[in-house]
Amino acid sequence: MVPFRQSKTAKNLLISYSAEAQARTRYNFFARRAEDDGFIQIARLFDETAEQEYEHALRFFKFFNGGDLEICWNFPAGVIEDTHSNLLSSAELELYVHDVMYKGFAQIALEEGFKRAADTLDAISVSERHHEQLFRELAENIDRDQVFRKNKEMDWKCLGCGFLHRGKEAPSKFRPVSNLRDTLNS
Ligand SMILES: [Fe+2]
Ligand SMILES: [Fe+2]
Repeated sequence: MVPFRQSKTAKNLLISYSAEAQARTRYNFFARRAEDDGFIQIARLFDETAEQEYEHALRFFKFFNGGDLEICWNFPAGVIEDTHSNLLSSAELELYVHDVMYKGFAQIALEEGFKRAADTLDAISVSERHHEQLFRELAENIDRDQVFRKNKEMDWKCLGCGFLHRGKEAPSKFRPVSNLRDTLNS
């Protein structure tokens, strides 16, 4: 078995760590843009997802204990667009990460005999799949004008003062800070 430091898996894990760290930062950027666009709930979900990418980065980071390795990878430079575009580009990247990148890395890890690395990549891929779904659902809500109104009665909460309102639509007065708590289940 090839020593870890000389394996493709070591490089792939360092690439994964870098990709997660970048994703985390990018989602924080997108959260600020979502706030600017008036989508406070989406901003919170971007920030929440960023925290999950942080945890993924930490798991990859822990495979190493110092040292350095040279890696070569096509990292997306990214661009901050409107929130709808940011959601779709994020979903596409999540799809690539779980369906191509980590799937391939896990296969190589198994071939090289690093089962724990393969298991980690597989486990994190499940989260990335959820991220992809989340971003697509949120983009769809914007498409259908369903961010602040729904087809059935829901509980809406003002994120500024905590005021609760039940209805099909968020009261316009607190739209800038409104939140549909069960968007993902509706
Ligand atoms: Fe991640
Ligand atoms: Fe993700």
